[in-house]
Amino acid sequence: MRFHILTLFPDMVEQGLHTSIIGRAVEKGLLAIEAVNIRDYTVDKHKKVDDYPYGGGAGMVMQAQPIYDAYLSIVEKIGYRPRTIYLTPQGPLFTQQAAKEFALEEDVILLCGHYEGVDERVLEEIVTDYISIGDYVLTGGELPAMVLVDAISRMVPGVLKNQESGETESLEGNLLEYPQYSRPEVWQEKAVPPILLSGNHQKVDEWRREQSILRTKERRPDLFERAELSEKERKVYGE
Ligand code: ADE
Repeated sequence: MRFHILTLFPDMVEQGLHTSIIGRAVEKGLLAIEAVNIRDYTVDKHKKVDDYPYGGGAGMVMQAQPIYDAYLSIVEKIGYRPRTIYLTPQGPLFTQQAAKEFALEEDVILLCGHYEGVDERVLEEIVTDYISIGDYVLTGGELPAMVLVDAISRMVPGVLKNQESGETESLEGNLLEYPQYSRPEVWQEKAVPPILLSGNHQKVDEWRREQSILRTKERRPDLFERAELSEKERKVYGE
């Protein structure tokens, strides 16, 4: 899968994403992450990419031309118009489900805005998906783009070492993950739950499932309402 990130700060995205698990997947050729510098495509002789908003008001607006030409350079290279995401607090919230869906794409373009916004006309022309990463305002779309690249990438087959961890983790079926423990058996007088040392895999699975359900109910009641529980589980743990 290939990510094309339209940004005024290519170093930020490239440095942030070429490390750890994502970096390893890039080296393996499972992923490609390319930052496209919007400024390289301006036709302005001073390399300007923004201007004052029509109608007045504070701040600057990113102009349509450099963004559109940077976008076209990608489209020409890959031969089609891929799904193109604009990172904005005005979009629906990003979810694990959305991450899974985007992981099926061959290419995705992510457009990072700055200043007070982007000329609406270029958004109308190129954007297929508006996405927010949370109800707060950041100074630019780069961090949100990196969040998406990370979450989508780990759903691409082969990126995680143990493909299972992509499936059984937090948020599958809208449940949080169960608590984990490692050595030592006792730390600061706190013992590991004895069932985990029992060697009884069925009991361990049951215990973990229960912990996931209780934890979700306690910490994320909003998720719990949408959790995929059996009828019996609903009866035992429900309201
Ligand atoms: N750009 C600025 N804030 C944002 C947010 N919360 N989500 C996505 N893009 C943004």
